Amino acid sequence: MSSSSSSSSSSFRVQIISVLFLCGYLQGANAASSAVTVRNISKTEDAVNFHIYYGQTFKVIKNVVDGKSYLLIQNNSRMATRTKYCTSRIESFVIPLSNYSADTYSFPVSFLELLGLLGSMKGITSDSMASECALKLYDTGEIEMMNRSEPQQFSEFGAHFISVTDQPQACNFANFVPLVEEYPLQRAEWIKFLGVFVNLETRANKVYDAIKENYLCLTKVAASKNGSFKPIVAWMQYDSVSIAQDLNLHFFLYF
Ligand SMILES: *[C@@H]1O[C@H](CO)[C@@H](O)[C@H](O)[C@H]1NC(C)=O
Ligand SMILES: *[C@@H]1O[C@H](CO)[C@@H](O)[C@H](O)[C@H]1NC(C)=O
Ligand SMILES: *[C@@H]1O[C@H](CO)[C@@H](O)[C@H](O)[C@H]1NC(C)=O
Ligand SMILES: *[C@@H]1O[C@H](CO)[C@@H](O)[C@H](O)[C@H]1NC(C)=O
Ligand SMILES: *[C@@H]1O[C@H](CO)[C@@H](O)[C@H](O)[C@H]1NC(C)=O
Repeated sequence: MSSSSSSSSSSFRVQIISVLFLCGYLQGANAASSAVTVRNISKTEDAVNFHIYYGQTFKVIKNVVDGKSYLLIQNNSRMATRTKYCTSRIESFVIPLSNYSADTYSFPVSFLELLGLLGSMKGITSDSMASECALKLYDTGEIEMMNRSEPQQFSEFGAHFISVTDQPQACNFANFVPLVEEYPLQRAEWIKFLGVFVNLETRANKVYDAIKENYLCLTKVAASKNGSFKPIVAWMQYDSVSIAQDLNLHFFLYF
């Protein structure tokens, strides 16, 4: 009896070891064959107007407002060369983007800056941007000025991000619309939307967590003040030209 229990427990041990080995092997294979492991994911906690879903070699972002989905295919998967969607319901992109353009006529460039992505922004439609860094890249010729009335011009880029969506769109246009959210934190969480296009989920999550912590702390301070001038925590918006605007992801206390 004692021998049978020891033999069954040793075969149990062997099974555990082989399962661990198999897991390690599969994870190794997965890491080698795709740039992002499925563990590096972003989840929306506060924003309600987009959702992210993960497969092994692709991701899907769904925009709740227009019902449109973006199928993001990892560049090293077989699907990347074979699959292309461009319909009113679904568009496909190959990721991670090696370059992109943005409709900076009205676009929150700070999101891109916080993700460290300005270096791969190759086209803009206006120089009214709050980011000094983006302006410098434009001045030194790293970024090209494009004509926003000619959507086909942007097709040379991995994606063209726009925030004003009522314009003629080509197949690689991606609607980035944080302003549809009601609350500041929800808007800030759209940084995860951009992170997904470049496999920077880990960084996007970290930036968002820091913003959220800062915001909640300020909110608490504001709530604990009793003076007749009660401070509020505000979402900053920067207007350079009347129509061009840039959102600043820092919150401030106003008295
Ligand atoms: C995925 O997450 C791991 C652990 O945080 C990190 O080491 C790795 O760099 C991440 N990969 C990507 C592509 O973000
Ligand atoms: C996929 O993207 C990565 C990161 O940009 C790049 O290093 C790699 O060469 C690309 N692979 C293919 C097959 O295009
Ligand atoms: C932009 O394109 C439109 C439509 O083709 C054209 O009418 C306009 O002159 C162009 N603007 C500039 C500044 O080139
Ligand atoms: C942008 O990246 C694509 C590959 O995704 C490449 O074919 C194209 O030449 C690049 N364009 C610019 C302007 O860097
Ligand atoms: C604010 O006022 C309430 C009631 O007037 C009081 O209980 C509370 O301690 C005050 N808080 C602070 C931070 O002064």
